[in-house]
Amino acid sequence: MKFLIFPNYVYKYNIKVSQQDQNFLRIIAKNYKQEYHYTTFYKDNILLLPQINDLKKTLENIFDKLNLKVLHAWVQGYGEDNFHDCHTHAECMYSCVLYLDCSDKSSKTVFYHPTHPHSVMYHVKKTNIQIKPKIGKLVIFPSYLPHVVLPNKDKKRLVLSANLIQKS
Ligand SMILES: [Fe+2]
Repeated sequence: MKFLIFPNYVYKYNIKVSQQDQNFLRIIAKNYKQEYHYTTFYKDNILLLPQINDLKKTLENIFDKLNLKVLHAWVQGYGEDNFHDCHTHAECMYSCVLYLDCSDKSSKTVFYHPTHPHSVMYHVKKTNIQIKPKIGKLVIFPSYLPHVVLPNKDKKRLVLSANLIQKS
């Protein structure tokens, strides 16, 4: 018998994000200033809002194909020099980030090896992968992967994130 443990499949899609969704979600995010960024993380599931029903359907179609469903979703905005420390997402299997708005100066999302910071780096071929924001880019990743948002250099960076679990 053999089985895989901690495989690191990451899924990437490109979806259409409307100007209306961008504007609506930016206004909401701006109401929830935290110390280092804006986030609705501590509020209700953002995908329950009827104003973004089309976006919700698009995302759910993709999640369905992966046999995943949303536990919680939120929107997060970054001003200049805003960032997000190294973290993982608890109580879920997969998480995702959808870049709603960005520019060339928007900071990257950096994913680390699952053993970070304890890995013995000499035997790890690649210790991190940097994802450059692009409007409509959706990245679905295992929730246990440590990741950071580097200090941001514009006022546009806006993402929708969600925590996901297997449907059955
Ligand atoms: Fe995260």
